[in-house]
Amino acid sequence: MKILVINGPNLNMLGIREPDHYGRETYADLVNKVKSYCDKKGVYCECYQSNHEGNLVDKIQEAYGVFDAIVINPGAYTHTSIALLDAVKSVSIPTVEVHISKVEEREEFRQISYIRLACVKTITGLGTDGYLRGIDFLIDYIG
Ligand code: DQA
Repeated sequence: MKILVINGPNLNMLGIREPDHYGRETYADLVNKVKSYCDKKGVYCECYQSNHEGNLVDKIQEAYGVFDAIVINPGAYTHTSIALLDAVKSVSIPTVEVHISKVEEREEFRQISYIRLACVKTITGLGTDGYLRGIDFLIDYIG
């Protein structure tokens, strides 16, 4: 099984940005955590991060026929991007939406998620463990 883990804008700033919301772990810590978890589970994974919407669309399109599942935290594009929604719909790859913070308890503009319409599950508020729970879900989901 091959899982693609995608992070959107500002997630490269983990550990520096708003630690009350996003904790103290860096993006490199997150990648190490995800990779060692996938190794343990016998799953191949690739981690990708970009601050640019078009690059994220390209990466999702390139996953077609290559990856079995996607875990995505689109960052602020969650709340704005129909392009990312359409990209996930285009490839029909089972996708889990992850947010480090508890978005449902934050500002009103964070209550909208376009990508959610194409996702098989949403995980919020578990910190970076949310990515691992997303991987667990997809392993079961794909079987
Ligand atoms: C986030 C929540 C978003 O609202 C925000 O724009 C982010 C991170 C999260 O992981 O909690 O960049 O997706």
